[in-house]
Amino acid sequence: MAHYVQSALREKLLEVFTHANGEFVSGQQLSEVLGCSRTAVWKHIEDLRKEGYELEAIRRKGYRITTKPEKITSNEIQLGLKTKFLGRNIHYEETVTSTQKIAHKLAYDGANEGTIVVAEEQVAGRGRLDRSWHSPKYTGIWMSIILRPAIPLPQSPQLTLLAAVSIAQAIQEVTNLEPEIKWPNDILFDRKKAVGILTELQAESDRINSIIIGVGINVNQTEDDFPDDIKDKATSLRIQSGKEINRSELIQTILEKLEKLYESYLKTGFYPIKLLWEAYAISIGKEIVASTLTGKIHGFAKGITDEGVLIIEDANRVIHHVHSADIEIK
Ligand code: BTN
Repeated sequence: MAHYVQSALREKLLEVFTHANGEFVSGQQLSEVLGCSRTAVWKHIEDLRKEGYELEAIRRKGYRITTKPEKITSNEIQLGLKTKFLGRNIHYEETVTSTQKIAHKLAYDGANEGTIVVAEEQVAGRGRLDRSWHSPKYTGIWMSIILRPAIPLPQSPQLTLLAAVSIAQAIQEVTNLEPEIKWPNDILFDRKKAVGILTELQAESDRINSIIIGVGINVNQTEDDFPDDIKDKATSLRIQSGKEINRSELIQTILEKLEKLYESYLKTGFYPIKLLWEAYAISIGKEIVASTLTGKIHGFAKGITDEGVLIIEDANRVIHHVHSADIEIK
């Protein structure tokens, strides 16, 4: 069935429940109002459950909504937000292809530094190395941040590490969990990934026009919410902490931490950020395998350079500088 018909039925279903005001609506009534079979009604109810609605179902009485998913709102993000420019301009949408795509367009059209794009769902979320990024509705933070730093182009990877540190700090403050960073920018718990960061540039020769930092955080997913291919590798803050997390509050804290680090970075450079990053890093000092575009490098992760480049020493004591790779910790 076409996507728009599905979503029209879903809207109608929600409208019926809203009118019922917490009372039960029978399956028969629902199938009459929606003009579809009872089996189709059941399927739509299951879809709502997947989106985070909680529904009670009682035989002969029907269904009622007991809890609605918590939505992100610009108001909640901005209420009490202690930043000067980050998140002062919020572009919020329910469903997008990718927040990166929208942020690129906004940046190209001259959006102010600090503009953020937030969506409840991405249907074509993108990860690093051309992978896709699973971004289901109402459960995660799918956000792109536009920055316009006056720094030389080769320093831009530093901002990815800076973003990872600020997100780790924010997660720690909001959830009390202890995040670990795997080079360059994955945030893990129990070796499973909860956060990915994708940094992209708009630049001319050596001048950066904008840096778009795409942040994907698995916040309130349960184990069943992850597709089979990532089930073993992915986790969420809710799984780790056993609590539902308010996503707007977490976004607010990320913006505050990020702005603070970013301003200190522009003033005093990367070194203090590097120290913070190393304190969260799990890959450093460990035996790792780095899969790069030109092959695999086995060795010990010695640390990162001042530019944020990974240093690996192999069994022959040869030092490798790795700019982009996937890391596996042995
Ligand atoms: C990674 O591969 O680890 C990076 C994942 C980045 C995902 C985020 S979600 C918000 C933004 N929009 C996208 O399409 N991707 C980034």
